[in-house]
Amino acid sequence: MTQVVNRQHDPIEQGSEYLVDHRQSPFGQVSLQCTRVQQRNWTRVGLGRLPAAGGVGHTTVFLKQNIDRGGRSHPDHWLYEQAGADIAHQLLKDIVRVPQLRYQSESLLLNVYEYIDVVTIDELLRSDPAAFDQCFDNVIRNMVEVLEAMRRPFSVPHLETLPVKSRPYGGSSTAINFKGFEIRNAGLVRADTGAIEPANLVMFDFVRPYRAPIEEAAAKLFVSVGLLNWGKPLGRFMKGPDTALLERALRPLHSYLDRQAVLEEIDLQRRFRTREFQGSGNLERTLKRLGIDILGRRYLHKLRHWCERHIA
Ligand SMILES: Nc1ncnc2c1ncn2[C@@H]1O[C@H](COP(=O)(O)OP(=O)(O)OP(=O)(O)O)[C@@H](O)[C@H]1O
Ligand SMILES: [Mg+2]
Repeated sequence: MTQVVNRQHDPIEQGSEYLVDHRQSPFGQVSLQCTRVQQRNWTRVGLGRLPAAGGVGHTTVFLKQNIDRGGRSHPDHWLYEQAGADIAHQLLKDIVRVPQLRYQSESLLLNVYEYIDVVTIDELLRSDPAAFDQCFDNVIRNMVEVLEAMRRPFSVPHLETLPVKSRPYGGSSTAINFKGFEIRNAGLVRADTGAIEPANLVMFDFVRPYRAPIEEAAAKLFVSVGLLNWGKPLGRFMKGPDTALLERALRPLHSYLDRQAVLEEIDLQRRFRTREFQGSGNLERTLKRLGIDILGRRYLHKLRHWCERHIA
């Protein structure tokens, strides 16, 4: 039998077993096997296997550990991850699918979610542009319902304990927002047959909840649509924002959008994304980085210009 040891802030590894706590305390601890793991910039994510309820077979779970690419642990992110997931599940579960957070391990900074086979919106755009095109308007319509729920989050317990960000635009800061609220953290369910289910929108990676005018959430969502061409492949990145897509998103989101909120979100993304290119290295790497930097600046400039002309 494999010995289970959770060592403080140890990166999870494929093939290892870990003890996790059921989040509804009376159910105690279970042992889980990590079957796949991938290091991302801020987190390690992977899959795990648990004995199924009733003892026959296994259940797959999604793992997210708050250890970054440099091996640093982020206990604060671990707590924000939980707060965001719990609140979003409670508030949005009747509108979209929000994977439920089932188990946790504080010593590993690990959160364990219900597994949902999902194709993210930005993955779908690249892997099957025709399917993306068919689904897009429906995704945005779903997002409008999500914004409506976020505008009136009164069913959320302890709402008054969340940090409030006052903004010079929009209405009062009574809406709820999440740091991770954006189109790339939404996707469509993939059925067992491999087919995409266009009516089944999933949202995840909410992270830190806070209160701010609903215009801020709408701006984050809208700007993230404008950033769908960002990065890879190079041809897509060079084209810059897809203005036809922006127009399609603008119509249903129009009443939520505030010019200042949108422009501030673009500026925030600029500060955040231009940092992606910094660092040192050999000449070839430096030149490549400079090239990407110029493309990125041009991309954001186009997006800002489009928004200045179209959002009152
Ligand atoms: N419950 C889940 N079941 C299956 N897959 C999931 C689940 N939650 C997220 N994923 C997949 O794992 C990917 C990474 O998850 P998530 O966005 O939470 O991590 P992240 O490290 O914060 O990512 P990023 O920083 O790139 O936004 C998602 O894009 C999605 O494809
Ligand atoms: Mg994400």
